[in-house]
Amino acid sequence: MTLDTSTTVRELAVRAPGATRIFEKLKIDYCCGGARTLGVACAVAGVKTDDVWKLLEEVGQTASSETIDFQTASLTELVKHILDKHHVFTKEEMERLDALTEKVCSVHGQNHPELLRVKSLFQSLCVDLKPHMFKEEQVLFPYIIRLEEAVSRKQTPMPPPFGTVRNPVRMMMFEHDTAGELLRELREATSDYTMPADACISYRTLYQAMEAFEQDLHQHIHLENNILFPRAVEMESLVNSV
Ligand SMILES: [Fe+2]
Ligand SMILES: [Fe+2]
Repeated sequence: MTLDTSTTVRELAVRAPGATRIFEKLKIDYCCGGARTLGVACAVAGVKTDDVWKLLEEVGQTASSETIDFQTASLTELVKHILDKHHVFTKEEMERLDALTEKVCSVHGQNHPELLRVKSLFQSLCVDLKPHMFKEEQVLFPYIIRLEEAVSRKQTPMPPPFGTVRNPVRMMMFEHDTAGELLRELREATSDYTMPADACISYRTLYQAMEAFEQDLHQHIHLENNILFPRAVEMESLVNSV
């Protein structure tokens, strides 16, 4: 690969799944901010484009550790991966971290008032994510699977009640932006998940788990925004153009 700073972060993340780990580490937004070019994204994150490119080249030569190739997998396989890996994890962690936030707040809230903001932000994130994932599981994903099944049988899919897949996709992407903003605010409230000197085990566990939750949600949104949704929109357009 030659250095091309006009390539978007989204394209790089799709081309080499390992790139997302580098972007995560360098705080380069690759899910909701994936439309930025690499040059702009590096400037926003305050890192040198040359250094990032070197890391991307290394990761491009390393085999991906992912079990499926997101570019060639069927949409049904992609949906299954998102549900099994990300929806299950998000639901489990929301429940665990809600209880843990409560506990840490009650013990350390007086000395660390920022924890009250962390608790409120995390609760807002959960309030948004629960119905969001429900809509994906009950409405959007089943339609995408039916669409692909109809295409493979060379049949015309039943028209969806929402008109076109573009409508729920637009809504889901808008909700992803809101979630992304809440994650940014959480990072700010926790000073990049920096633990104070007097942090107990629960406090440390909470910050470590919240940072892992952020990383998983970034990857989850990336798979939907940058891979699943564009491929579903394209498939529907092809069917409707026949
Ligand atoms: Fe999802
Ligand atoms: Fe989503």
